[in-house]
Amino acid sequence: MKALVLAGGAGTRLRPLSYSMPKQLIPIANKPVLQHIVESIRDLGVTEIGIVVGSGNTDLADAMGDGSRYGVAFTWIVQERPLGLAHAVRVAGPYLGDSDFMMYLGDNMLPDGVADMAADFATARPAAQLVVSRVPDPRAFGVAELNDAGRVVRLTEKPEQPRSDLALTGVYFFTPAIHRAVENVTPSARGELEITDAIQLLIDDGHTVRAGRYRGYWKDTGRAEDVLDCNRHLLRSLRSRLAGHIGDGCEISGAVVIEEGARVLRSRITGPVVIGAGTVVEDSHIGPGTCVAADCTLRGVELSDSIVLDGATLSGVSGLYGSVIGRHASVTSGESPERHRLLVGDHTRIEVAA
Ligand code: DAU
Repeated sequence: MKALVLAGGAGTRLRPLSYSMPKQLIPIANKPVLQHIVESIRDLGVTEIGIVVGSGNTDLADAMGDGSRYGVAFTWIVQERPLGLAHAVRVAGPYLGDSDFMMYLGDNMLPDGVADMAADFATARPAAQLVVSRVPDPRAFGVAELNDAGRVVRLTEKPEQPRSDLALTGVYFFTPAIHRAVENVTPSARGELEITDAIQLLIDDGHTVRAGRYRGYWKDTGRAEDVLDCNRHLLRSLRSRLAGHIGDGCEISGAVVIEEGARVLRSRITGPVVIGAGTVVEDSHIGPGTCVAADCTLRGVELSDSIVLDGATLSGVSGLYGSVIGRHASVTSGESPERHRLLVGDHTRIEVAA
């Protein structure tokens, strides 16, 4: 079996971060989303992984390499334009050949793994096996309707009035029967070649399509709120590791990782918290649910429930929470205690104290 990870697409819901980096590289628990996905595919014993990327996107390959450091082999597949998930499968056709394959949407996190669904697929080999999850409001997802025997009878992409509460999670298993179906789909109302339409064609042609229920934590990390929620969730199982320098008078409690080369001085760290390699934290309080990436500087900061990306500088700012701070961004206190001064990029969101 091979795997296909879809990491093209525009990432508009994660602006402004997605202007300067592919959303699949946003770190959650200080590890890019794509790395979490690759590791969970490898843990199923699948080592040949095709990754679909948008044209001109070399950031992912630069960051992830050829896969050898994760014990797998990557093949990078370029999709010239994000014309839909079925289109991405078309483009990957020559790579996939006549192998069975699992498809993983590159922004979906299912940290509890899909080993039972992979085993069901290997045993029964339906034309498609979908991983579904029960959600209170499935309108933002593909929705599956099942019959009493557990077979999928109908799929609808982002329905306004969902006929079931089973959402497609973004993990699918396919036999090569899908290739003919993706050739035959036509653009949907939103102008994309939908994988849900291709799977519906399989059903209409009399193929068996099954669904397995995933009961663990699942997040489509398409929006900043989802990224933070997922970060919080993963940090709950963080194990302490204090490899960096911790100066006298620091107070460290809860699960805390301080990476090698990080320096924490005169500060209180209340886990779960990760402080990345080479980062300096001084005179600060870093609270639960926070990941600070590599080479950041935090001075006189009170920060919790947040993600800070590589090389950012925070200084003299208290009460920061629920924030995502981009690479090399700077958030500092200014000369005036009453006024704010901002240099803000497109589609940025800032909430200041009233
Ligand atoms: O999150 C689960 C949902 O993902 C499913 O319930 C839906 O049925 C499925 O269509 C998909 O919906 P989204 O609207 O969330 O898909 P999105 O456009 O975010 O794309 C998912 C991933 O696939 C993302 O990593 C980008 C990549 N992609 C997307 C398109 C449109 C490609 O690689 N190529 C593309 O052409």
